[in-house]
Amino acid sequence: MTIQWFPGHMAKAKREVQEKLKLVDIVFELVDARLPLSSRNPMIDEVIQQKPRLILLNKADMADESETKKWIEYFSNKGFKAVAVNSFQGKGLQQVTKAAQEILADKWARMRAKGMKNRAIRAMIVGIPNVGKSTLINRLAKRNVAKTGNTPGVTKAQQWVKVGKELELLDTPGILWPKFEDPEVGLKLALTGAIKDAIINMEDLAVYALNFLSTHYPEQMRERYGIDSVDEEIVKTFDHIGRLRNVLGAGGEIDYDRVSELIVRDIRNLELGKLTFDFVEEELEKETVEN
Ligand code: G4P
Repeated sequence: MTIQWFPGHMAKAKREVQEKLKLVDIVFELVDARLPLSSRNPMIDEVIQQKPRLILLNKADMADESETKKWIEYFSNKGFKAVAVNSFQGKGLQQVTKAAQEILADKWARMRAKGMKNRAIRAMIVGIPNVGKSTLINRLAKRNVAKTGNTPGVTKAQQWVKVGKELELLDTPGILWPKFEDPEVGLKLALTGAIKDAIINMEDLAVYALNFLSTHYPEQMRERYGIDSVDEEIVKTFDHIGRLRNVLGAGGEIDYDRVSELIVRDIRNLELGKLTFDFVEEELEKETVEN
């Protein structure tokens, strides 16, 4: 489901998250490991403020592992602990409680020094739609508890779910909006399936995908399509793939709509392997220019 975000919705979503923040010790900021920056809410620092935070790079099973490592280091250099997880299969989840304990170790030590008893860490999950918030809550809880209904602004009664003895999680995640101002972010979100197809021009998306592959993953492109770069006239690349995969219309001409869909589907279905769409090097370059 694609949410239409309007200013009123965004303000309400922010307010809802901030209300819940009062209940928790730590926020689990869930992002997609394939696009750790593009899948972040642009105002996340302002929304969460000083609340301790653990960044979870979800869907790590679909991301380029070497890039995921670089992203963990990137976040660490910014002062944030980050952990790669696969909520779908429940991988990496033992690390979540451990990482939360490490982040809160000082606070817990201060509580103990004041004579307070140890209690479970209280956490909430926050992220943009489709990053896997409900899947993660259900996996951590080991049963279906997440109140999905991806609709920000619809307040539901929330409950704590126990994750072992050490962690308690709100069963309702905080849903925040993605970045809108950068069209490339929209294309990356669409390529990973986070934005639904009805609002996307498939041909534009396929053109972006082919250029992206030739820049970042030429080997994977060669293996799948027998070419490792796009032709100066991009239509020739479409023709090549169309003929290769026999995507022809009734009169034998290339069916460009179906070729576009095929390219996008190939990427989403990992037919070109595990790919990452945001790169640490590119981000660091941007940050250097901005400073
Ligand atoms: P949300 O609450 O943040 O909106 O996300 P949700 O849990 O609904 O997950 C969105 C989709 O992502 C689901 O696919 C879910 O199975 C998948 N997903 C979540 N975590 C992981 C992960 O770690 N690895 C992989 N490979 N997939 C994950 P879906 O039900 O097929 O949704 P859709 O494709 O119909 O949108």
